[in-house]
Amino acid sequence: MAGNSIVVGVITVSDRAAAGEYEDHGGPALRKACTERGWKVEAEAVIPDDIEKIQTTIRGFSAQGCGLILTTGGTGIALRDVTPEAIRGIMRVEIPGFGETMRMRSLEITPNAILSRCLGAVVDQSLVLALPGKPSGAVECLSFVEGAIPHSVKLCIGVPTSC
Ligand code: MTE
Repeated sequence: MAGNSIVVGVITVSDRAAAGEYEDHGGPALRKACTERGWKVEAEAVIPDDIEKIQTTIRGFSAQGCGLILTTGGTGIALRDVTPEAIRGIMRVEIPGFGETMRMRSLEITPNAILSRCLGAVVDQSLVLALPGKPSGAVECLSFVEGAIPHSVKLCIGVPTSC
């Protein structure tokens, strides 16, 4: 966290985007949302729905200094949706308020938001948010919890902070 700027890693989790079968729109949408907030996106990846790949990418981004890591995709209930399982396999703690808030607020927009197992967790030195795959849904969910992000990231990276 140089100055007040949050350093962000953005990970698109999608078999088809990773295979080049369609263009990734979720990653660029999140990058734009981060830039608009004055945050610095310093790492980006498009990876398949694979637990080990998700875990090594998150850990790599944390090791390279991303205090906030956003994933988009794989939070639903399709057979290949494993993003929550991947994160839960490496997290120190889950922060249930992030998932609760994202679902509660998203339900005002679409009843299908109940299908998203979106979540927030601490992995190594990073706050990790698993957002839905639909680009507008990912940005909506980010906006619903953004007020808590700066303080949470400071705690994750070990910057002294008061409430
Ligand atoms: N949340 C918001 N805010 N807006 C949305 O459009 N789409 C939902 C849900 N959450 C949506 C949303 C849908 S249709 C699905 S299937 C789930 O997120 C899971 O999406 P994912 O598997 O692509 O992560």
